[in-house]
Amino acid sequence: MKKTKLYNLSLATRAIHGKHLHAFKGPVATPIYQTSTYRFKNSNDAVRYAKGDSSVLVYTRYHNPTTNEVEDRIALMENGEACALFASGMAAISTAVLSLCKSGDEIVSTPALYGGTYRFYRDTLHGYNIHVKYINPNALDDLLHLITSKTKVVYFETPTNPTLRLVDIEQLVKITRQMEKKYRTSITIIIDNTFATCLNQKPFEYGVDVIMESATKYLGGHADIMAGVLIGTKQFIEKAKGLSKHLGATPDPFMSFLLDRSLKTFELRVRRQNENAYVLARALKRHPKISRVLYPGLPSHPQHKLAKKQMSAYGGMVTIEVKGGVKAAVKVCDNLNVAINAMSLGGVETLVSIPVYSSHINMTNAELAQHGVTPGMIRISVGVEGIDDLIADFRQALGKIHLK
Ligand SMILES: Cc1ncc(COP(=O)(O)O)c(C=O)c1O
Repeated sequence: MKKTKLYNLSLATRAIHGKHLHAFKGPVATPIYQTSTYRFKNSNDAVRYAKGDSSVLVYTRYHNPTTNEVEDRIALMENGEACALFASGMAAISTAVLSLCKSGDEIVSTPALYGGTYRFYRDTLHGYNIHVKYINPNALDDLLHLITSKTKVVYFETPTNPTLRLVDIEQLVKITRQMEKKYRTSITIIIDNTFATCLNQKPFEYGVDVIMESATKYLGGHADIMAGVLIGTKQFIEKAKGLSKHLGATPDPFMSFLLDRSLKTFELRVRRQNENAYVLARALKRHPKISRVLYPGLPSHPQHKLAKKQMSAYGGMVTIEVKGGVKAAVKVCDNLNVAINAMSLGGVETLVSIPVYSSHINMTNAELAQHGVTPGMIRISVGVEGIDDLIADFRQALGKIHLK
């Protein structure tokens, strides 16, 4: 991908200033273009747009200056050529996949995915005759059997939701490229980087083609917007935006403004979330009511070595498994005073959720086993509160579990 020298600046600087580092005039805060349409100078503007002049503003489902500013900034932050912003993470995922696959094509993925992505694959793509094959994320050699000449997309998430397993990105890219050569096809490798974020993990450095993130989470960071992003080559992003025009997955300008504002504190927030999550995971590790603490930053994590290789820090997500199953998990979640019992993740507030009651609700026992999800699991999205308050809160709530 072609990059400018702005990519040499630190992540925090890119997130705050975007392309405006040397601008001499103009507002410091990005203005909100809260408009659905744009005034033409004269009718020739419509003709120029139709002939491909992208400088002519026409309609907000096609483009919007507030949104474009955020897209440029996120492309810089993620070290990518271009970015497209969508109305949600699922809008970004569905647009990416549908822009790359047609009837008869195949996707190789894993069941260890965000439940919404898995359901989209299982319940929707099936009807479009797009077939998804699943492998265990820790058995990447299976790609050698499952990728065929029909494979158009290889789609993985790392760390996975909610089990915090890792996928070896380098290995994934290596095997996929090998199979691409064998079949002389073109396969797009997509990584959902929502849990790690661009602060902790840089999939492009391993040769991944497209990064997807639910910006509802860490990029937004305040539990007040829905958004999703795709980052990739200019060519891919133009294709995805072309489809998005038809699907109407366009972001609202006010959301783009809120996201723009959030990006300025992204690095500060996520750094603190990394620190808090590590300390909380360590503090809960030896708790007598907890059977497992899953956190890639702990040496006890089965893939800690891989985490050290492909992540620079380990993120703000911690999953614990309490003794006593789902009843005990409910007891803890209903007795927390600082952490909030709510779905979603990545915000400044600590949130907890029980996967079998949220992302993995209504899945069969076989599916839960395939996803590695157990009834006593609690997923914690660690926020930026004082860490001593969080530790005390979890200890008092865990104290409410009475094991027989
Ligand atoms: C890892 C991951 N990817 C994608 C999504 C979907 O994003 P959104 O809810 O913004 O549509 C989520 C939502 O929780 C997620 O956790």
